[in-house]
Amino acid sequence: MSKPVLSGVLGAALVAAALAPSAPATASATAPAPASAPAAVAASPDISVTNVKAHLDQLQSIATSNGGNRYTGRPGYRASADWVKSKLDAAGYTTSLQSFSTSAGTSYNVIAEWPHGDANHVVMTGAHLDSVSSGPGINDNGTGSAGVLETALAFAASGQTPRNRVRFGFWGAEELGLVGSKFYVNNLPAAERDKIELYLNFDMIGSPNPGYFVYNDNPAGNGARDELTSFFTSKSVQTEYIDVQGRSDHAAFRALGLPTAGTFSGAEGIKSSTQAGKWGGTAGQAFDPCYHRSCDTISNLNLTSLDRHSDAIGHMVWTYAQKDFGGTTPPTGNLLLNPGFESGAVNWTGTTGVITNSASKPARTGSYKAWLQGNGRSSTENIGQSVAIPAAATAASLSFWIRIDTAETTGSTVYDTVKVQVVDGATTTTLGTLSNLNKSTSYVQKTFSVTQYKGKTVTVRFVGQEDSSLQTSFVIDDVSLATS
Ligand code: PHE
Ligand code: ZN
Ligand code: ZN
Ligand code: CA
Repeated sequence: MSKPVLSGVLGAALVAAALAPSAPATASATAPAPASAPAAVAASPDISVTNVKAHLDQLQSIATSNGGNRYTGRPGYRASADWVKSKLDAAGYTTSLQSFSTSAGTSYNVIAEWPHGDANHVVMTGAHLDSVSSGPGINDNGTGSAGVLETALAFAASGQTPRNRVRFGFWGAEELGLVGSKFYVNNLPAAERDKIELYLNFDMIGSPNPGYFVYNDNPAGNGARDELTSFFTSKSVQTEYIDVQGRSDHAAFRALGLPTAGTFSGAEGIKSSTQAGKWGGTAGQAFDPCYHRSCDTISNLNLTSLDRHSDAIGHMVWTYAQKDFGGTTPPTGNLLLNPGFESGAVNWTGTTGVITNSASKPARTGSYKAWLQGNGRSSTENIGQSVAIPAAATAASLSFWIRIDTAETTGSTVYDTVKVQVVDGATTTTLGTLSNLNKSTSYVQKTFSVTQYKGKTVTVRFVGQEDSSLQTSFVIDDVSLATS
C-alpha cells in the first residue's frame, strides 16, 4: 500500500484547528509570597488610569464608527492598529505594521521598539488588539492594549536610559487562535528569538467583577512571575496563580521556550466566595459577564482593576528595562521553528506533501508530522530547515522521533533508507542512516551531536530513498536542535 497524494492548503487547516475552543484556564491555590523581597527595585511608575481609560474611549469610538466591533478583517481592527501605531510613532518608537493572512482576512501586528539599550537583550510586552465579532471588545482586550500602550508612552516620556531593548507588540487575530503572535515568533530569525529575555502578556485587566491572577505557566520566567506577585503584595493586593496555557499570546513565545509571564482579571470563570472575600465584587458571578458579548463596551470595566494591573505593567517594564541578564549565557532551547510540524510546511523546505496531517499515520504529538517515502517505488523525498547555531553554545544536538513501518520482509537486507544530514555550504555530512531494518510500531527518539557546526548556519535535513517495490514509511515528528 502506498501513501495518498496530498493536496490542499496547510495554512487553512491550521487556522481551522486554531479556531477550536481551548480548554478553560483553571485557577490554582493562592500564590505564596516569594521567599524574599527583591533588593532595590527601580522606582515604579504610576501609570495614569485616566490616560488608560482615554485610550479605551478611543477604541470604543473606533468600534462605534466601524460597525460595532474591532474584529479581524473588519475596518474596526485596521483602524485600531493604525491608531495605536500613530501614538507610538509620535512618542519616538520605531514601529512596524506586520501584515499576515487569516481565515477572516488580512490582519496586522503593531510592533514598537524603543531604539536605545542593548539590542542583545530584549524585554517584550504585548496584548492582543482584536475583538471578537460580536462587540467592541473593550475589556477583551481593549484593556490590555490600553494598559500596554500607556506604559509604552510613559516609558518614552520618562527619559530614562534603558539597559535593555524594550519592545511592545499589539497582536492581531488572537481570537482566531493566537494567529498574530504565532506569525510574529515564527518569522523571527533564530538569532533574534534568542535575544528575547522575557515576554509579558496582558489579556483582560479591567474585568467588571475583577480578580488578580498572575500567570503560572512559566514559574521561572526570568523571575517575572514572582516580581508580579511581589508587586501586588506591596500594594496589599492578594493574588492567585492561574495556568492560562494556550489561551493567550504568551503561548506562542512559550512554545519557543522563551520566558513569559502576565496578569489577568478574569473572563467567563465564576468568582468564588473566597475570591469575593479578598477582592470584593460578587461571588457566584463571572469575572466578566460580558465576555465575548456585545455588552463588552466602555461600561464593562472596573477602573480599580484597570489601575492596579496597569501599574503592574509599568512596574515590570521599568524593572526589566534595567535588569542585568548577564552577557555570557548562551541561548538554550530548540532553535528550530515549527519543530513539531503543527504549522504545516511553514519554515521547512523540501518535497511538497511530506509534511502532513494525514490520518493514516499517527503523529507523535499534535496531528502533523513528516512522512517520508511510503511510495513503494523508486523514489526520494526530503525535508530540511536552515538554522544558525550560536557560536556561544557549549554543545548542540539534533534529536527527533521516528516511527518506521515497512512491507519489506527479509530480515537483514537494507532496501529503503532515510539519511540524517547536515548541509554546511558545499559539504553534506550524513550523521546517521535508518532503514527498513529499524522498523518499530512506536516512535523512537534519535539524537546526534551537531556541536561541530556551532557558529555556522547549516541546513539539517532528512533524505528518504526507496527501491522499486515494497513501501517503507519513515515518519518523523518533534525535531529539536538544542544548544546547552
Ligand atoms: N485569551 C482569551 C480571549 O481573548 C482571554 C483569556 C485570557 C482567557 C487569559 C483566559 C486567560 O478570549
Ligand atoms: Zn477573547
Ligand atoms: Zn483576550
Ligand atoms: Ca506533530
